[in-house]
Amino acid sequence: MSEEKKITAAETHEFNRRAFFVKLGLGSLSIAAAGTAAFSYQFLSPNVLYEPSPIVNAGKPENYAMDSVTLDVNSGIYLIRAQEGFFALSAICTHLGCMTAWKPELGIIACPCHGSKFYVHEGGKIPGQKIEGPAPKPLPWLQTTLSEEGDLMVDRSKQIDPMKFLRV
Ligand code: FES
Repeated sequence: MSEEKKITAAETHEFNRRAFFVKLGLGSLSIAAAGTAAFSYQFLSPNVLYEPSPIVNAGKPENYAMDSVTLDVNSGIYLIRAQEGFFALSAICTHLGCMTAWKPELGIIACPCHGSKFYVHEGGKIPGQKIEGPAPKPLPWLQTTLSEEGDLMVDRSKQIDPMKFLRV
């Protein structure tokens, strides 16, 4: 009788161990399956980047004084009103991509990173052309149009030939 009890206790003990390991295995499998499912969902989801529009609304022409240079730091453009008309230049230096700055006291655009300088109003010079410094190219002219509502629109994705002014 006591032998039977001993065997039963041993069996019970073995059963508990087996049940524990089965539960442990199932728990591990569940965690692995959940991880795989999460990874698969992330892998299969479209990886979409939402870039801001390249077109900038620069507002009404009358907001710009004659012979003014306006830097929009957020969009990285200069909107310039010259006697010949409006034009836009990229404000991003063609050397290593620093944001340039308008220097009204000198009448030029200058890059703070390595000292490139560019013309804006100098007589006979093409605005955007390099004066000095390591920049390999001029600041590009950007397509500038007038919207149906009469706003100046600058398309940062479209470069145009220099000296194509927008007359308003
Ligand atoms: S980034 Fe402008 S001069 Fe180097």
